Amino acid sequence: MTKYIIANWKMNMGKQEAIAFVTALGGISIPQEIMGVLCPSFPLLGALHLPPTIALGAQNCSSFGSGPYTGEVSASLLQEMGCAYVIVGHSERRTLLGETSLMVKEKACQVLDHGMTPILCIGEPLDIYDQGRTDVYLKEQLEESLPDRDFILAYEPVWSIGTGHTPRLEEIEAVHKFLHNVLKEKGFAHTPILYGGSVTGKNAREILVLPSVSGVLVGGASVSFDMFLTIIESAT
Ligand code: 13P
Repeated sequence: MTKYIIANWKMNMGKQEAIAFVTALGGISIPQEIMGVLCPSFPLLGALHLPPTIALGAQNCSSFGSGPYTGEVSASLLQEMGCAYVIVGHSERRTLLGETSLMVKEKACQVLDHGMTPILCIGEPLDIYDQGRTDVYLKEQLEESLPDRDFILAYEPVWSIGTGHTPRLEEIEAVHKFLHNVLKEKGFAHTPILYGGSVTGKNAREILVLPSVSGVLVGGASVSFDMFLTIIESAT
């Protein structure tokens, strides 16, 4: 089974650092069963020449096709820049920038209309987790954001992102199984489900071996080449 290792650099990495990272990446061999994806900031999309083993992804796109939307970036331009994947609905955008599930769904459809694959993020905040309402919350968020064609789902508990706290392994497995069943009911049984939230070189292997986990979406640890390499090695 393909395991996705996706680096979400967020608003980190300058041009020189990024070029040095990608040059180092060119020197390593990545097994065929691993799908590596690098998602840098928009201006770097045209500046990085990735090795053929690593796909290019963006961290966001507009929910509109084109037009007077200052500062937005269209899915068609991302496709022209060589992106194969686009992250949509990251919790940082949902919570800090007010993105709704409807906007996320429209973004995912834009990505699909331009021949790329959306990486659709969902995740519960801490109060919902503490109340034991994770499943209900995620089901609603997924149903409201769900595109009509194939995508990759990333389960990222909001309380786990950048905190060093992760759910217990059995909790990750249970949530992924639950999401798989929701997707199955809707005809998306084959959807890869990735885990994201405080994945590091230390815990990647135990998360990646879980049967319901098709890969990881990595933030902080993905800007360190050595850590990212350890995570890739953990997937084999
Ligand atoms: P961290 O790996 O820094 O917790 O971030 C996860 C994330 O938000 C990936 O999209």
